[in-house]
Amino acid sequence: METREHQIVSSSPEETLRIGTVLGQYLTSGSIIALNGELGSGKTCLTQGIARGLKVPEGFYVTSPSYSIINEYPGRLALFHVDLYRVEDVNEIEQIGLNEIIGVDGVTVIEWADKITHILPNERLDLSISILDDQTRNLHLRGYGHRAVTLIEKYLAKFGPA
Ligand SMILES: Nc1ncnc2c1ncn2[C@@H]1O[C@H](COP(=O)(O)OP(=O)(O)OP(=O)(O)O)[C@@H](O)[C@H]1O
Ligand SMILES: [Mg+2]
Repeated sequence: METREHQIVSSSPEETLRIGTVLGQYLTSGSIIALNGELGSGKTCLTQGIARGLKVPEGFYVTSPSYSIINEYPGRLALFHVDLYRVEDVNEIEQIGLNEIIGVDGVTVIEWADKITHILPNERLDLSISILDDQTRNLHLRGYGHRAVTLIEKYLAKFGPA
């Protein structure tokens, strides 16, 4: 399988939002983004940017859902935002119907995706965020398969390898 890695340093929440927006502009239907990173690292911030890039109307505020696990937003492509933080038993995943939405028309972004790596398709974008300091984050992108590799290449074509 084709693979590609890239690291991006973000120096502010606004920058993470912009990175997400660019990714959102290039995403194609069926894309899966597996987000990992500790509490407060910026997974939801990045997802808000992705929503913007997918042209989710401004009236929708993308936030980690308290009572649901999946939020769906309309846009250029449908955005399914999944947050597994509160999921303890992986069997719950089957009950919430994650299998039904993965890979369907739209884009699926999953926070705390490490919990379900074993049921995710191999072709996806893994994006791990680590906290460097108060305002600085390292985004480690690993694309698996042609779709995710193309996404990283389009991002690089816009911003260069720096
Ligand atoms: N460079 C940065 N990128 C993103 N967020 C940043 C950055 N610097 C500081 N922050 C702050 O870090 C926090 C990120 O919060 P966010 O809810 O996006 O994290 P999260 O990874 O989704 O957390 P959780 O695991 O609780 O869902 C925000 O308070 C944001 O202002
Ligand atoms: Mg979050």
